[in-house]
Amino acid sequence: MEVIRTVREMQAHADARRREGRRLALVPTMGALHEGHLALVRTARAHADHVTVSIFVNPTQFGPNEDYARYPRQLEQDVAALEALEVDVVFAPTVEEMYPDGPEANLTWVYVEKLDAHLCGRYRPGHFRGVTTIVAKLFNICKPHVAVFGLKDAQQFQIIRRMVRDLHYDIEMIGVPTVREPDGLALSSRNTYLSPEERKQAVVLSQAVEAARRAIEAGEQRPEAIVEAMRQILARAPLARVQYAEVVDAKTLQPVARIRPGQRVLAGVAVFFGDTRLIDSVFVEAP
Ligand code: PAJ
Repeated sequence: MEVIRTVREMQAHADARRREGRRLALVPTMGALHEGHLALVRTARAHADHVTVSIFVNPTQFGPNEDYARYPRQLEQDVAALEALEVDVVFAPTVEEMYPDGPEANLTWVYVEKLDAHLCGRYRPGHFRGVTTIVAKLFNICKPHVAVFGLKDAQQFQIIRRMVRDLHYDIEMIGVPTVREPDGLALSSRNTYLSPEERKQAVVLSQAVEAARRAIEAGEQRPEAIVEAMRQILARAPLARVQYAEVVDAKTLQPVARIRPGQRVLAGVAVFFGDTRLIDSVFVEAP
């Protein structure tokens, strides 16, 4: 396994592998890897014969009051975990490599309109612009045929999918179901911020979205009723401060007045425990 730290070397490496006729997969991450990330790597392996994992904590997707400075960074440990999975390349650039003039002086952005009006996008202005910009850069640097993302970040997945479509990236998008702890909590690098009591109560997120799934599958068509069911479950956690509980159309990511039979929707929640923000969501097809 190679660890590559510069854009130039990564591009040359990808070009050489492509000339050999290899099928390249990319798994973009911000590191602090857990079993959720590793599931993406295994999926990538199954769809390609060369796997690159990028590790880069992207400053432009963090808001001014978010956790960019304290986001966990543990490159050595991550590299060891990826080595064990027979990853071919770890691309771990510096901020200077990715933003040569500094993140604040970046002038070219990739922004997918409208799809960030609800869910996380509504509360994290500029977040998805940062995500799509860094992912576009990573696509141009790592030159994958296949890119693998987690459905845990459902809005991110839909927005990147739309970017790929609108910009004609010749890249196959693969989504991997959310990997969870035994009690249902979605694995996240941010779970490490939780106190033991917060960790216990955090089970309400997965319980809330599961309740939404059951309600929709049982024929509930009123988004307000589904949101109310999710809020009732979140209210069982006294330490939780709910940011949103929403049901939107899975493709447009816009609210729906009433769920139509056969419609695919996304039910999602975001909850703070102290300063720690957790999300969970489910895609559901209405009966
Ligand atoms: P990060 O939060 O490190 O997540 C990297 C990838 O792992 C994302 O595709 C995310 O959806 C997936 N992932 C995280 N937790 C998961 C879980 N429990 N089950 C399945 N997949 C999971 O998402 C980002 O980084 C960044 O925004 C990035 C796309 C790398 C751009 O900077």
